[in-house]
Amino acid sequence: MAKKRIACLISGRGSNFKAILEETNRGKINGEIVLVISDNPEAEGLLYARESGIPHMEFSQSEGESRSRYFERIFLQLEECAVDLICLAGFMKVLSPNIVRRYRNKILNIHPALLPSFPGENAQGQAVEYGVKISGCTVHFVDEGVDTGPIILQEAVAVLDGDTEGELSERILEKEHVIYPLAVKLFCDDTIAVEGRTVRILKKTDLR
Ligand code: GRF
Repeated sequence: MAKKRIACLISGRGSNFKAILEETNRGKINGEIVLVISDNPEAEGLLYARESGIPHMEFSQSEGESRSRYFERIFLQLEECAVDLICLAGFMKVLSPNIVRRYRNKILNIHPALLPSFPGENAQGQAVEYGVKISGCTVHFVDEGVDTGPIILQEAVAVLDGDTEGELSERILEKEHVIYPLAVKLFCDDTIAVEGRTVRILKKTDLR
């Protein structure tokens, strides 16, 4: 089976992009990262892509540029690179409907909470504030909503007494770095079936 061509969209640190890259480099994922796009020229992850020799591009929204024009530029780039899979990895913009439609069930996102709890920004802070005892992270397909698409994998993380948002975020991030590359592997092995909202993993596997 041909390797899947993966694009990672980032806005900042890029640690999830790095985690996926590590596993593709180890040959554990039947895919390669062919493009990193950042909407933020200062993104640490962009620097890492450069150092790692991964094709990378900065797409800043210029002043006065409409959202649809901006995303049209990104869309054309994705098409030009013939990507099979788009991984949102801390990308802070909501994708345009035409990208979501064109890549239906081919866009993954990682969210730092157990969806459908605490969607949107600052999920870890919301969890601490709410006082839940368990939170975690979710990899899901992207649909037209915000953090609403079919769920692929989730991992629970205990919220400890006195946890700050930062402490909880760190422990959740460790799990993100496990389940995100795993979900990418499952996708690249064609072992994910989507039936309505429900995702079935056709063949269980891990990254060992
Ligand atoms: C992660 O916590 C992810 O769940 C959220 O944004 C953060 C991105 O971190 N969507 P990084 O840029 O991958 O380090």
